[in-house]
Amino acid sequence: MALRARILGAAAGGGLPQWNCGCVNCRLARAGAIPAQTQSSLACTADDRTWVILNASPDIRQQIAAALPLHPTGLRESPVRAVLVTNGDIDHVAGLLTLREKRPFALYATREIHEVIAANPIFAALDPAIVERIAVRLDTPVEIVPGLTAELFPVPGKVPLYLEGDEVQTDLEGEQTVGVHLSSAKRNAVYIPGCATVTEALRARLSGADLVFFDGTLWQDDEMIRAGLGQKTGRRMGHISMSGPDGSIAAFEGLPVGRKVFIHMNNTNPVLRPEAPERRIAEAAGWTIGQDGMEFTA
Ligand code: MLT
Ligand code: MN
Ligand code: ZN
Repeated sequence: MALRARILGAAAGGGLPQWNCGCVNCRLARAGAIPAQTQSSLACTADDRTWVILNASPDIRQQIAAALPLHPTGLRESPVRAVLVTNGDIDHVAGLLTLREKRPFALYATREIHEVIAANPIFAALDPAIVERIAVRLDTPVEIVPGLTAELFPVPGKVPLYLEGDEVQTDLEGEQTVGVHLSSAKRNAVYIPGCATVTEALRARLSGADLVFFDGTLWQDDEMIRAGLGQKTGRRMGHISMSGPDGSIAAFEGLPVGRKVFIHMNNTNPVLRPEAPERRIAEAAGWTIGQDGMEFTA
């Protein structure tokens, strides 16, 4: 069966425009000169009827409203049967609170991320008697909706911002930041919205994927500092940049993968402007710049 994926939100945490940002992209998006993008989420199905949402964005209410296939099919029925989160970041878990309306679904995450969620009492709004919390072991395939299997694997990253201590390890490989290998009967896709660096193990994991959705947070590591918007590099945030010898575009060179799509773009990323030279460079290297509402069939 085919594997269908729809970008619900192509932006990183903050979205485009971000509420407090006056950078060039945010101003253009506010003016309607470039498309606005909601925060990080992807929906997938293998049977066109039942869907899993990968990462519950703070914008999930608006995202579901904008996605016809995710609309209720009955009085209190939803095609959304499962939610899987890849880390504990606010842009990936805050939307769970919007899904609190007594509708059963399965919530998949690693054990450590379930612990992060359980440690925050506000998530008790998702009654465990209705929303089943399923801990997924790394490197162990699980059928999450009919015909669609997910395997979680560690990718270099860090703990969520709100759990950072004085010392932050940004290339941690464990249960805090994972990628997802999705497979239907014949096709497969890999979803990695956060990744600090592309290791050889990760390249091996990506090899042969029909469809890849990959961390496109920044164009260059010091982009936010240059724009006068903050002190953090991409590396410090646990995100690889697109450009440069250590960037994702270079890391994917020569990798046998089908369609490559950047997602989780920070609002400072120049590729969000359709006319930007950086976007042409990414596209010339075979990448698609993801946008809200884009659909792909593998
Ligand atoms: C990230 O992707 O780095 C996080 O979403 C940052 C955040 O939680 O604000
Ligand atoms: Mn994020
Ligand atoms: Zn901005």
